[in-house]
Amino acid sequence: MRKEHFILPSNAIYLCGHSLGPMSKVAQKSVHETLSQWGSEAVKAWNTAHWIDASKQVSAKIAAFIGVAENEVTLCDSTSVNLFKVLMSALRLNSARKVILTTEDNFPADLYIAQGVSLFQEGVQLKTVHSEALYEHLDEEVAVLMLTHVNYRDAAVYDMEAITKKAHQLGILVIWDLSHSVGAVSLNLNACKVDFAVGCTYKYLNGGPGSPAFLYVNACHHEHMETPIQGWMGHQTPFDFDLQYRSIGVSKYLGGTPSILSLKALEGALEIFESIEQTHLYTLSMEYSDFLIRGLEELGLQVVSPKNQRRGGHVALMHDEAYGLSRALISEGVIVDYRAPGLIRLCVNPLYLSLEDIKVCIQQIQRILETQMHLLACYQKSRKVT
Ligand SMILES: Cc1ncc(COP(=O)(O)O)c(C=O)c1O
Repeated sequence: MRKEHFILPSNAIYLCGHSLGPMSKVAQKSVHETLSQWGSEAVKAWNTAHWIDASKQVSAKIAAFIGVAENEVTLCDSTSVNLFKVLMSALRLNSARKVILTTEDNFPADLYIAQGVSLFQEGVQLKTVHSEALYEHLDEEVAVLMLTHVNYRDAAVYDMEAITKKAHQLGILVIWDLSHSVGAVSLNLNACKVDFAVGCTYKYLNGGPGSPAFLYVNACHHEHMETPIQGWMGHQTPFDFDLQYRSIGVSKYLGGTPSILSLKALEGALEIFESIEQTHLYTLSMEYSDFLIRGLEELGLQVVSPKNQRRGGHVALMHDEAYGLSRALISEGVIVDYRAPGLIRLCVNPLYLSLEDIKVCIQQIQRILETQMHLLACYQKSRKVT
């Protein structure tokens, strides 16, 4: 679709955009321009190049992706840090209750954050349940429901609207992690009346390694929400050096000085999406991943991703020799990743992949399995997993 706009690893088919999106030419150009501004203007560039407004400007673009108003979203820190902040806010808003509910298969980083919060917050208890039993555990003890919308392993998608609605009926606030959703599936948080959301921008938005994460808070909470990190960049007038913290709206969640190089890479990367309908991208992604799933199943492989339309941007397969298979594929120029135990993830992003790429990927898998290349000692597990 936009392949010529990307700089992709040479002689490779890049199926790892669910981990780190590739570099676009506009992202590269934007970083180069920012470096030049730094060189020529130094500190003046905060004003002359409008770096000081960059976070707000790029946040406005993210708002469109997730279906919210511009004043409900901000960009800062990492997903982990933003999750900490909104979890603390939500617990404070619902302080009569003490349970954070989540699923056992949530992304481990999110579980770690919630475990940390429950360590520091007197009486707060983290409850993890099987995803299929989620509804049974929604009750009036739960303060906050914390879920990842698209599962990082099998790409299964939760019904955001139905779950949020059910939680609200029971007085539960809901936080969604959209790291594997934004740029991969169509989102409309306002329509689902979501309370809080966080997510990264370096996967399907191709913002670059460690690009700033976003944080969304529904406007209905703006008046009463508080944040545990009252960063000076979120102060109403940071350069007045007021001794008392004062802030309004979602910018309350801003921390310290923004990472301008990363923000500018992201700003460039988002230009790629201009004039592309999210629904069109999603339809194409489903078409390509359906094709991949059929090809994998014809090879007798076990696809564990959902076969219906409730699937994120990648396809996952389980294999007894998944590690060796993933390493052999990478050495043959098909860039995938491995997640223990036994999982290979293949990201089917029509922004920079063609149907022909998917065909080549299937052929390579077939060749490796037929020649048993994946069983060679050099592809067995003894080194670092990426
Ligand atoms: C679903 C999900 N949540 C949270 C994170 C953690 O993000 P970060 O390392 O940017 O804090 C990731 C990282 O891949 C993720 O996939």
